Amino acid sequence: MPTELTARLKNDNWDLHQIAERGPTPGALIKGTMPKPGYSDSLAQGLLIHRALDHATQGIKDKRPDLGALIKPDQAFAPYLEADLDFLGVDTAGITATPGTQRFIDAIGARADDPCYLFGLHYVRLGACNGNRFVARKLRSVYGFSDNQGTMFLDPFGEKQRSEWNAFKNGIDALDLSQDDQDRIFAGTRDAYLLTINLDHDEFQSAEALLAANAKTLDKDAFEQGHSVHVAPGETL
Ligand code: HEM
Repeated sequence: MPTELTARLKNDNWDLHQIAERGPTPGALIKGTMPKPGYSDSLAQGLLIHRALDHATQGIKDKRPDLGALIKPDQAFAPYLEADLDFLGVDTAGITATPGTQRFIDAIGARADDPCYLFGLHYVRLGACNGNRFVARKLRSVYGFSDNQGTMFLDPFGEKQRSEWNAFKNGIDALDLSQDDQDRIFAGTRDAYLLTINLDHDEFQSAEALLAANAKTLDKDAFEQGHSVHVAPGETL
């Protein structure tokens, strides 16, 4: 039976999304205050994570063709990161994983036999492109990039972003997913936010600890109206 899973994935993760977009790295990127070497470093770490996740999505296709059919070839993210890093002159052979990156890679490996969980991780990297389009626009202006050079990873789908994202979500909701499948996908999305927030932390912080630390400033209305203060209410690209 069709589900309303994507409404849950969006509505029940708003708190971690708000914490994620305020984090040191995403926050500095959307504000345009991140020096270019810091941006290159974040892409280099991303390459290690997304190579592992690209590999894991192949496993989804093998084990769960229904979910795998929604993952198109242009949703492999390592090639975008390689193109950006090449443009920025970064040697990709010499990248060492930070603790947060290693934690993310280990989490992917630990759930290699759980295609629904891995699909949840994939959902978040794809959904993040909705906000990353704003980040890409800011960075193009701050760093003087032309076209999409250097920002392919953030904005891989360009003008097709919204329609492709809606098609992906409609495809998920049209599937016949058991409650257990849905809960595993949700767990993957929750962990994707958590692992991303923790990329900025050497010591892992649990969801409970993060929510308690941010309890006074979490604001659902502000989030729904405009996300980060750097995205105007109702603004779309
Ligand atoms: C850099 C700061 C960020 C800004 C300004 C931002 C902004 C946005 C915006 C405007 C949307 C579209 C919301 C809608 O369709 O109604 C969105 C969606 C999304 N963002 Fe972010 N975002 C940021 C960071 C992040 C990060 C770091 C992650 C991942 C950990 C993330 C994951 C997502 C996901 C998964 C969606 C789709 C939500 C859903 O429909 O389930 N975002 N973001």
